[in-house]
Amino acid sequence: MLAKLWYDGWQDAHAAILPAELARARTRESFAERMTGALADVRVIGPRGAPSGFAMLKGDELYQFYVASEARGAGIAATLMADAEAQLSERGVGTAWLACAIGNVRAARFYEKCGWYLARTMVNRLDTVDGPFDLEIWRYEKRLAHR
Ligand SMILES: CC(C)(COP(=O)(O)OP(=O)(O)OC[C@H]1O[C@@H](n2cnc3c(N)ncnc32)[C@H](O)[C@@H]1OP(=O)(O)O)[C@@H](O)C(=O)NCCC(=O)NCCS
Repeated sequence: MLAKLWYDGWQDAHAAILPAELARARTRESFAERMTGALADVRVIGPRGAPSGFAMLKGDELYQFYVASEARGAGIAATLMADAEAQLSERGVGTAWLACAIGNVRAARFYEKCGWYLARTMVNRLDTVDGPFDLEIWRYEKRLAHR
């Protein structure tokens, strides 16, 4: 279910704005494999068996952030974001970062609403089944609150 949510969200947000070569590498199987390998770093929102969204953490990076299409625009993303930030903070992260595809304006708007700021554009090295893929992205950052 989580891999499907990820695949579908990737199609919604990225298929039209990212290189076709990358879209070809992002198969359903590739999302399932990556999800299985990262479950310890995944936070899920929604009922068991019918997730509304997930966040995946990786070091000081909010690595993946997806909400199912039917759950968008309802405040679920903000709840999931607050949890992800709290997790990163608990892990000792001071300033977190995330990569947003250039042109993913809905996500960018959402991150800015949550207090993230556009730090700069940078080249991000993505892992794909065909090997590394360099992609220019918007780097967002946020200084996290510590208790
Ligand atoms: C990014 C995502 C998690 C945000 O969650 P959400 O529930 O859609 O977020 P919200 O509706 O609270 O906020 C989105 C904002 O963008 C605005 N927006 C929607 N479509 C837009 C567009 N085409 N251009 C500009 N702004 C847009 C919304 O109006 C809203 O702003 P507002 O609250 O000021 O009106 C969700 O859309 C998603 O999962 N998208 C697909 C996957 C994705 O892009 N993930 C991020 C990868 S970097």
